[in-house]
Amino acid sequence: MKLFIDSGNIKDIEALVAIGIIDGVTTNPTLLAKEPGDYRQNLKKICDIVKGPVSGEVTAVDVAGMLREGREIAKIDQHMIVKVPLTRAGIQACKTLSDEGIRVNVTLCFSAAQALLAAKAGATYISPFVGRLDDVGTNGMELIREIVQIYNNYDFTTEILVASARNPIHVIEAAKMGADIATCPPAVIDMLFNHPLTTIGLEKFLKDWEKTQAVHGVDAVKA
Ligand code: E4P
Repeated sequence: MKLFIDSGNIKDIEALVAIGIIDGVTTNPTLLAKEPGDYRQNLKKICDIVKGPVSGEVTAVDVAGMLREGREIAKIDQHMIVKVPLTRAGIQACKTLSDEGIRVNVTLCFSAAQALLAAKAGATYISPFVGRLDDVGTNGMELIREIVQIYNNYDFTTEILVASARNPIHVIEAAKMGADIATCPPAVIDMLFNHPLTTIGLEKFLKDWEKTQAVHGVDAVKA
């Protein structure tokens, strides 16, 4: 399964990409609005760092505006993916842009029916928001299960990009279900690394090693 960073922060992205386990980046207007500087230049920098798919979202709500913005976003870098919201206009723009060879990520997906429409419109990615569904008392991961089943039934090539991931359980469940990608904020990626038994185990290994070194050190002096 691919792992994307859900952030517009250059430093966070640089630090995580350096580890070597990041396949791409997703942004949205809220995330980009937090960062200083021109958002196009920031997206270009992100593309240069990750050298994989980077989603940048249109803010127009009509088809003509989405097409205009989408084509501009696509020109920023070969790695750019145009993100459109799952509205009628978004689906129409997705179809047109996809037919032109521009890769589209359809975002703000909250139902299997919406995911079916995005696949039919040729979306490269569908982004179901699991955390926001959980927030309103609906099981977000159940939606992923439904989409995996529907896409498999018809061999749709649209990749399932699990978005709004809030914890490691979202990521693990997504992997078990066969979702293609999980996009996580840096804090959630940190959580994936952490386990208290790893921390405790490493502390003990290092303490034991220090003791042995001390003994060997003494032996070395005697010899
Ligand atoms: C995905 O592309 C979105 O940017 C993101 O996952 C939204 O997550 P949130 O619900 O934590 O804002």
